[in-house]
Amino acid sequence: MSVLAQKNPHIKITVVDINKERIAAWNDEDLNDLPIYEPGLKEVVNEARGRNLFFSTDIDKAIQEAEMIFISVNTPTKTYGKGKGMAADLKYVELCARQIATVATSDKIVVEKSTLPVRTAQAIKDILDYTGNGVKYQVLSNPEFLAEGTAIQDLMNPDRVLIGGEESEEGQEAIDALVDIYATWIPKEKILTTNVWSSELSKLAANAFLAQRVSSINAISELCEVTGADVDEVSKAIGMDSRIGPKFLKASVGFGGSCFQKDILNLVYIAKSYGLNEVADYWEQVIIMNDHQKNRFAENIVSKLYNTVSGKKIAFLGWAFKKDTNDTRESAAIYVADVLLNEQAEITVYDPKVSEERIYADLDYLNTRSPEENRRLLKVVKEPYKACENAHAIAILTEWDEFKEYDWQKIFVSVIKPAFIFDGRKILEGNKIQDIGFQYYAIGRQTN
Ligand code: UDX
Repeated sequence: MSVLAQKNPHIKITVVDINKERIAAWNDEDLNDLPIYEPGLKEVVNEARGRNLFFSTDIDKAIQEAEMIFISVNTPTKTYGKGKGMAADLKYVELCARQIATVATSDKIVVEKSTLPVRTAQAIKDILDYTGNGVKYQVLSNPEFLAEGTAIQDLMNPDRVLIGGEESEEGQEAIDALVDIYATWIPKEKILTTNVWSSELSKLAANAFLAQRVSSINAISELCEVTGADVDEVSKAIGMDSRIGPKFLKASVGFGGSCFQKDILNLVYIAKSYGLNEVADYWEQVIIMNDHQKNRFAENIVSKLYNTVSGKKIAFLGWAFKKDTNDTRESAAIYVADVLLNEQAEITVYDPKVSEERIYADLDYLNTRSPEENRRLLKVVKEPYKACENAHAIAILTEWDEFKEYDWQKIFVSVIKPAFIFDGRKILEGNKIQDIGFQYYAIGRQTN
């Protein structure tokens, strides 16, 4: 929304939320205190805020004034009832639709920005039409393809913008209104318009394809470790085939983030609900492979440390689900930590951006052990060299650039010998690390 406002100074954009603290943080004088860390975001907010971008908790007023309303609420995986653990929870989307229907007195275009199952637009339309007061609505789907850490860059120069709408004259008018907003900075040929269902499904399909690439290369990484092939070399070799392409072929300890797992589970659920069991099984395998990758990384640590990590100190470098973000949702680090804590390891975590509260909240959420136990066994430190001191092993969970720059010789001196590094992102130079004296295990690389 900040980028839309920055690029369209003639349009007033009001971002509303029921969460007062969040809105206060978005209005904070100090731009370093915005609720999200994202490179380039504060500059955009600084330019547009107070000019044509506003943050407010007065939701009803904003609904009344708006001609176009974007629904951008959470659609987490359901944790209860039918579809538990798989289907998207549409509670918040529905609440938004009901509030719009109750408050609106003039015609509106309602845009689904949240990632939603196919045919959700119909449900939104039903709620708007049947509980409203004669107000006319058009529902558009406009999924977001930005990735965290590069969000501003992705928004400034997207591969494409997708807008789905009703196949009618009114639908086309609504689509055109949204196209005009994006067209202020995006070439028209990159703005794709489709029917609503294609747009909704394309978002799920795009994430499923991306996640599938990561699981595919991770499956190959395990083969590399036993055959002597090097996964980076394989990625490069296959990625140079222009039909395959080089992106999303970096082997890792497993993908995380708020979207991949959630969207695939949702896709699997939808396929099952239409009786398409083979389709469902096909996509579910992407998740099964990802879980396997996280597990085997943790189990490898245990097995290389002579089959016991009980009472041993393991230093975690990184907790975020990828570099350049403080987001930890579904981060592989959480699950690797959980396995190791079950083995009674003692973990020390250093992450340049993730807070101590977040790390404990992630672990507590799993409900595997008591919060006290989590705090007793896992410590969070603000200094990487301190995290590694007296460690029996170091595990790299996030590919932060700074990890490559550390003085590994100095770290080697401070750890317990034999010294182990488990590189879940394959970011260190293996030969140099081994020359220092470490036993170095990286995803997708056979250890000599
Ligand atoms: C993703 C999609 O890329 C984006 O289009 C969508 O809008 C939201 O979901 P995001 O979750 O922010 O974005 O991050 P992304 O860069 O896609 O990475 C997801 C996970 O896959 C991370 O844990 C990352 O480390 C991992 N990954 C990615 C790999 O392990 N290897 C790769 O080659 C690429």
